Amino acid sequence: MPCAMAIWRVYLLPLLLLVLLRAFTSLPTQAAARGGADPSSGTDDGKHGSFSRNLLQDKPEITEEMTRGYMSNSELEIAVQDFGRRCANVSRVYSIGKSVNGSPLWVVEISDKPGKREAEPAFKFIGNVHGDEPVGREVLMQLAYWLCDNYLKDPLATLIVENTHLHILPTMNPDGFALRRRGNANNIDLNRDFPDQFFPINDDINYRQPETRAIMSWIKQEHFTASAALHGGALVANYPWDGSRDKRKQYYGCPDDKAFRYMASVYSQSHYNMSLSKEFRGGITNGALWYPIYGGMQDWNYIHGGCFELTLEISDVKWPKASELLVIWKQNKMSMLNLVASLVKVCFQCSASHD
Ligand SMILES: *[C@@H]1O[C@H](CO)[C@@H](O)[C@H](O)[C@H]1NC(C)=O
Ligand SMILES: *[C@@H]1O[C@H](CO)[C@@H](O)[C@H](O)[C@H]1NC(C)=O
Repeated sequence: MPCAMAIWRVYLLPLLLLVLLRAFTSLPTQAAARGGADPSSGTDDGKHGSFSRNLLQDKPEITEEMTRGYMSNSELEIAVQDFGRRCANVSRVYSIGKSVNGSPLWVVEISDKPGKREAEPAFKFIGNVHGDEPVGREVLMQLAYWLCDNYLKDPLATLIVENTHLHILPTMNPDGFALRRRGNANNIDLNRDFPDQFFPINDDINYRQPETRAIMSWIKQEHFTASAALHGGALVANYPWDGSRDKRKQYYGCPDDKAFRYMASVYSQSHYNMSLSKEFRGGITNGALWYPIYGGMQDWNYIHGGCFELTLEISDVKWPKASELLVIWKQNKMSMLNLVASLVKVCFQCSASHD
């Protein structure tokens, strides 16, 4: 991990330029009409600051109509198991624990040697952290299928399968999804439930939610190099720190700020239109500058797992029509692939420099 940190700084810039060049040549010229975040009286964030994402509200009510065409939890479980069979030689399906109501937290690992420890970077994608932000779980299954179907056909798919261990947790909050709300079955916001570096709000491990504990022990076990958690309600790539020491809304960068800005830019510049944001320059933002949060998963990953985690807001609308999900997957496809693939090239350099 110390190696990966240094390597990020040294090798990422030239690589990024390449990625950006490629991305710019294929960018559409369409511009945004609408930004992501409204200041609102957030339900659960009031004590930490007055600013919040529009994603904080459980409103408006989620109707039957809105959820039509989205996979239910049992359909997702079947999809994950089917995937494991269909892509048996380049994947492994495992569970990292259970939700409050007993749903297994299924993970798909994609690699040519799934389950084996190798000197390769591990990346994780986590979807559906908030129960009412379901786009991530759908898009992540598309990503898994695409990698499986294109391994040995597409160079990027092959590169990722052969040189990384990609772990995909489509839903971290199946109970919240079933209940059509942000929090889990105990109505706790899982992205406020991690121990915090500035305030001891969540220091007692025994009081953490089962979903949070599952993620914490997973991170300790797998040594991820980088990761991304998928959210909805805005369109932006968010990077640490998420909180500031004095709770003011301000740019609060972590020691690897540069590396994080590159990573976030890889995502936004490879995206269909994230970088065209009117609200966020280049489609990226420091978390504390947007609005500080405490107990988030992203900062905990960096501090306690040595893992470079981004928080990705991938859709202004939390519940777009299900017929738009394929389009949203396509808009995020190159971003996801480039983000994971960028680690590979970095780590090739890493082993070369040790020879
Ligand atoms: C990106 O495109 C979507 C349509 O797919 C649109 O709704 C959104 O406003 C656009 N955002 C930006 C920043 O261009
Ligand atoms: C997986 O299966 C495909 C198709 O049968 C085969 O071409 C490929 O070599 C296999 N890959 C691995 C890593 O075993």
